[in-house]
Amino acid sequence: MNKTIIAHDADEMEEIGVDLARELEDGMLVSLVGPLGAGKTTLTKGIAKGLLVTDVVVSASYLLERDYQGRLVLHHLDAYRIGSLAEFAEVGLDRLLPPEEGVTVVEWPERVDGIVERSDFLVRIEFLDGGARRVEITRASTRPRPPRPHSAGSDRPRAGSL
Ligand SMILES: Nc1ncnc2c1ncn2[C@@H]1O[C@H](COP(=O)(O)OP(=O)(O)OP(=O)(O)O)[C@@H](O)[C@H]1O
Ligand SMILES: [Mg+2]
Repeated sequence: MNKTIIAHDADEMEEIGVDLARELEDGMLVSLVGPLGAGKTTLTKGIAKGLLVTDVVVSASYLLERDYQGRLVLHHLDAYRIGSLAEFAEVGLDRLLPPEEGVTVVEWPERVDGIVERSDFLVRIEFLDGGARRVEITRASTRPRPPRPHSAGSDRPRAGSL
């Protein structure tokens, strides 16, 4: 699923999130890259809606992370004030990058080296003239998945995948 969509208003932005939520599975990491006020939280609200979260999603800026229960748990992170993965580790949030359970959506991932690179979906939002936004969604199919904890023989090399 690689595509570029124009969102003319906040409702259309949310709809993009609803659509994206259909693609999400346990253990996935979604990076939302875009300038201040681009619509990252609005898109996250749509993802939450698509995941059948009933709580109201608010900005994660001040708490760094909020969890919402839906079809999958949604972990909403904001890396704006974080300088490195080590800092995320200090507050115990590196376990969500990617999460073992649920999906993680990160605003400002580009401020911390390594987050965008390990994402399953990269969403780039740009302002267009007139206030609309261009939203480009890229699916990374090549991120190495961590070994599954319960898979037989995971402690020795195996031929083939899975
Ligand atoms: N596609 C859009 N077109 C016009 N307005 C939008 C669009 N998407 C979101 N908005 C509006 O832009 C404002 C900022 O949105 P939002 O808070 O989602 O941005 P953000 O990227 O999360 O900001 P921040 O960088 O502060 O975290 C809100 O008023 C929202 O309703
Ligand atoms: Mg935001």
